Amino acid sequence: MITKCLFPVAGYGTRFLPATKAQPKEMLPILTTPLIQYGVEEALEAGMKNIAFVTGRNKRSIEDHFDITYELEDQISGTSKESRLHSIRELIDKCTFSYTRQTHMRGLGDAILTGEMLIGNQPFGVILADDLCVGESDNVMAQMVRVYEKYRFSVVAVEEVPVGEVDKYGIISGEQLDDEHIRVERMVEKPAPQDAPSNLAVIGRYILTPDIFEILQNTPPGKNGEVQLTDALQTQAANGKVIGYRFQGRRFDCGSVDGFVEATNFFYARQTKTP
Ligand code: G1P
Repeated sequence: MITKCLFPVAGYGTRFLPATKAQPKEMLPILTTPLIQYGVEEALEAGMKNIAFVTGRNKRSIEDHFDITYELEDQISGTSKESRLHSIRELIDKCTFSYTRQTHMRGLGDAILTGEMLIGNQPFGVILADDLCVGESDNVMAQMVRVYEKYRFSVVAVEEVPVGEVDKYGIISGEQLDDEHIRVERMVEKPAPQDAPSNLAVIGRYILTPDIFEILQNTPPGKNGEVQLTDALQTQAANGKVIGYRFQGRRFDCGSVDGFVEATNFFYARQTKTP
């Protein structure tokens, strides 16, 4: 049973400046819900009640979001506005939250390694909240838990991207096991199109086996001088221990303005359709 989910949230969000000058990018809302809350809802629905954040300076509003706000709650108690807090109250009631800080921006791999003391020696989920995912029947992380239960290896969610965009992602290739599963053989972080092993891109959902921590400790800085999770996963993949999973559903790249607007329009259309 996977009970822990790690959220690396220390990044700056420079693509959303000036909005992210004094607030975390993870707190930007799609309609009325901050991105990070969608991520935590997905983790909880997948059975991961223990939420671990690798955070950084200027991220304190994330901690406040997952806590009670007495004065506000007292003021709106008994009014129609109270219901607007139901979704976040449910998370606060059902989850535990723990935090540790990444003091230097040394890459996603370093962020994951910083989270080791919150995770310990067990498999865990990782959600990058700026990839907002909408599953078909089950959410993407819940689908990945099933994949993990079948193979007991690390699992990365993948989707095809246009060849011209492969340099924004970790790109995989390997042996196709069936329509949905690939035994990963190669993983390359943000390759140039001519060097990419395929156009199958890793999106911000992972299940990692805990040996990843020791591997990360021994992984030298890679692309952009940062410790890359992709490089550590390549070490597992070389032993056949990473499964690529073509998930059922849709992903919005809310780390870009275009994806953010697309997600907003999608959720708005969905909300106005719901009776
Ligand atoms: C990170 C990973 C990359 C992955 C991507 C998914 O990159 O390093 O391998 O494909 O997330 O969103 P970032 O978007 O943080 O630059």
